Amino acid sequence: MKTAELRRQFIGFFAEKGHKVVESSSLVPHDPTLLFTAAGMVQFKDIFWGRVKPDFKRATSYQKCFRTTDIENVGKTAYHHTFFEMLGNFSFGDYFKEGAIELAWEFVTGELGIPPERLWASVYEEDDEAYSIWRDIAGLPPERIVRLGKGHNWWGPVGDSGPCGPDSELHYDTGEKNACGPDCKGLTCDCDRFTEFWNLVFMQYEAKKGGGLTLLNAKNIDTGMGLERMAAILQGARTNFDIDLFEPIIDAISAAVNGEISGERIAFRNMIADHIRGAVFLLADGVIPGNERQGYVPVSYTHLTLP
Ligand code: SER
Repeated sequence: MKTAELRRQFIGFFAEKGHKVVESSSLVPHDPTLLFTAAGMVQFKDIFWGRVKPDFKRATSYQKCFRTTDIENVGKTAYHHTFFEMLGNFSFGDYFKEGAIELAWEFVTGELGIPPERLWASVYEEDDEAYSIWRDIAGLPPERIVRLGKGHNWWGPVGDSGPCGPDSELHYDTGEKNACGPDCKGLTCDCDRFTEFWNLVFMQYEAKKGGGLTLLNAKNIDTGMGLERMAAILQGARTNFDIDLFEPIIDAISAAVNGEISGERIAFRNMIADHIRGAVFLLADGVIPGNERQGYVPVSYTHLTLP
């Protein structure tokens, strides 16, 4: 399936399920505390924080995102980007864990036709509710539902207080043959066996300044699926850089150096492809290279040596 078709199918599915289709916001958010829009939930932050009451309870979007946190992994791994698109569905005090998991399962196995035996879920180690929903409603066998700690399956708060909660991630198993070896750490391993492609965040707490959690009255859902990651799964592509979306960019880079790029140089080619895409989308949103704010992203490439 082409990436554009996946985007259309995701938005169409959630629109049919009563979600308002909201266009992507700019990569430069109207929020001085954030440098870039790094997730689909950014444009809904005031709603999640209870500052604005929306006139819709469900929304879906395909959001342009720019992340600097993983910049040194770009090219090194199969799936890290600076610029990427995030497909999301959001519930503002409407459905919660059960609804979010049911919708995700229906979309992935029903709409996209991904074989259920390829799917694993991780849940926050104390989230018995999410665990039971994956087991009883989605029908995932217990050995493919993995409990992980706060470092993996907890989201927020942003800063020292605000909404936060456990999350649950869906992972695609490319097969044991792709594991790094007998000591493979499974879902948490950096090797090529598992691709984490969808994060479902269950915002159920408010973190207080100075510590402590209280339950939120209106519980919210924020999900984010990596468009390029899911496209790679559907297209059987070895890395995100092998999907249709990257083909023209990769071809242009190859043409610029008069031929095929192979071996260790592929990592550098992919890095260039990522950065060109990121730079073009940033320029389109008004970011000009400079020495401050969005114009200046410091990065160290000293760990890389050109082969
Ligand atoms: N905010 C969550 C994330 O960035 C889900 O969209 O992963």
